[in-house]
Amino acid sequence: MSIRLGLHRRTGPGVGARSVLAGAVVATLLFGTTAANAGPGSATRADDLDGLRGLAAKRGLLIGSAVYNPPLLGDARYRALLAREFSAVSPGNVMKWDTVEPERGMVDLTAADHMMRFASGHRQIVRGHTLVWHNQLPYWLTQKTWSDADLATILEKHVKEEAAKFRGRVYAWDVINEPFNEDGTWRETIWYKALGPGYVAKALQWAHEADPRAKLYLNDYNLEWNTAKADAMYALVSDLRERGVPVHGVGFQGHLGIQYDYPAPVIDHLRRFTGLGLDVAITEADVRMPLPVTDAKLATQADYFGRLLSACLAVRRCVSFTIWGLSDAHSWVPGVFAGQGAATPYDHDLRPKPAYAELREALRHRVAGSER
Ligand code: G3I
Repeated sequence: MSIRLGLHRRTGPGVGARSVLAGAVVATLLFGTTAANAGPGSATRADDLDGLRGLAAKRGLLIGSAVYNPPLLGDARYRALLAREFSAVSPGNVMKWDTVEPERGMVDLTAADHMMRFASGHRQIVRGHTLVWHNQLPYWLTQKTWSDADLATILEKHVKEEAAKFRGRVYAWDVINEPFNEDGTWRETIWYKALGPGYVAKALQWAHEADPRAKLYLNDYNLEWNTAKADAMYALVSDLRERGVPVHGVGFQGHLGIQYDYPAPVIDHLRRFTGLGLDVAITEADVRMPLPVTDAKLATQADYFGRLLSACLAVRRCVSFTIWGLSDAHSWVPGVFAGQGAATPYDHDLRPKPAYAELREALRHRVAGSER
C-alpha cells in the first residue's frame, strides 16, 4: 500500500474542530481492521470506533505502536490488538542497519517486509526508523577501520539504498536519530567524526533523492524538556530550513519516567518547532517506573501519558503519537534500566492499564490547548 498523507490537522473554534487527515485516507485508517483480517479475537467495527485508533482518527491523529519482532505478528492476540488500536506502526528494530545489511552487500529485508505486509493488510502507515544512527550498526562496519572518505561513501549508499527500497511505502523516515548530547554538543558518532556536522544535511539530501515524497525527520529524546539539546536541535533545523535542505519534521521520542517530573509545557516545546514550518510527532512514547508496580504509580503513569497525548493534540502539526512497544511484555525498558519497567499502556498479558483509559479520555474529551 502506498499512502502519502497531507497530514495537516486544523484546529478551529472549539473542541472537536480539529480536522482529520486528508479525506479518504481517514476512512482507511479508521476502518483498517476487519474481523476477516485481524485474526481471532479481533474487534468489531463498533469497538474500533471507541478504541485508540477510532478515537484518534476522529481527532486527525495517527496513533502508532513500535513492532519489535515480526514473529510477534504470528501471535493472534498481539496481531488483533495492534490492528484494532493503532493506525501506524514503527519498526522497533527491523529497519535498523544491523538487521537490513548484516553482511556487507547482503541486504535482508525479510523482517521489515513482514511488518510492511502486516501494516499494508491493516491499512496502517509506517514510520521508517532509522537511517542514520550510532547504535545497531552491523559488525562488518564497526569492526574495521575506515577512512573518512570510505565512511562517506558507505553512508551514502546505505541511506540511498534503504530509502529507495521502501520508496512509497513509508510515510516518514527518522533519517537522523539522536545527533546531540544532553548539553547540546554534537554526539561524536562514527558519522560526525568522519563527515562533521554536514552529515545531517547530506543524509537528508540522499534520502530525499531516493524517496522524494517521504517526510524526513530528525528524532531525539529529552526534547520534551526545554534543554540545551532541544536548543541545539532548534538551531540545526532552523539552519537546514534556511539552506533549503529537505527536512520536514522533528520527532520527540517521549521516553518519560514517573520518578521524574512531567516535562510541562510540552505544548510550547512542540510549537517552537512547528513555528519553523515543520511537522512534529511523538515517536517513542513510554512512561517507565521503578518496580514493583503499584496503583499509585499506575495512576501517575496514566496522567503522564494523557498529558503527553493531549499536548500533541493541542498542536495542529503534531501528526502522530507512537508508543514504543505494544505492551509491557514488548518494551525495551527492563533490558536497559535495571529495576524499572511497566512502561506501556498494556500489561504483560495485554490487559489495558489505567494509562490506556487515560489515552482514550484525552482523545475523547480533552480541550485543545489544555495539558493540565
Ligand atoms: O537480536 C538479539 C538476539 O539475537 C539476542 O539473543 C538478544 C540478547 O540480548 O539481543 C538481541 O538484540 C537486542 C535487540 O534490541 C533486538 O531485540 C539487543 O540486545 C538490544 O540492545 C536491542 O535493543 C533495542 C535498542 O533500541 C538498541 O539501542 C531496543 O529493542 C529498541 O527498542 C531500542 O529502540 C531505541 C530507538 O531505536 C531509538 N530511541 C531509543 C529507543 C530505546 O532504546
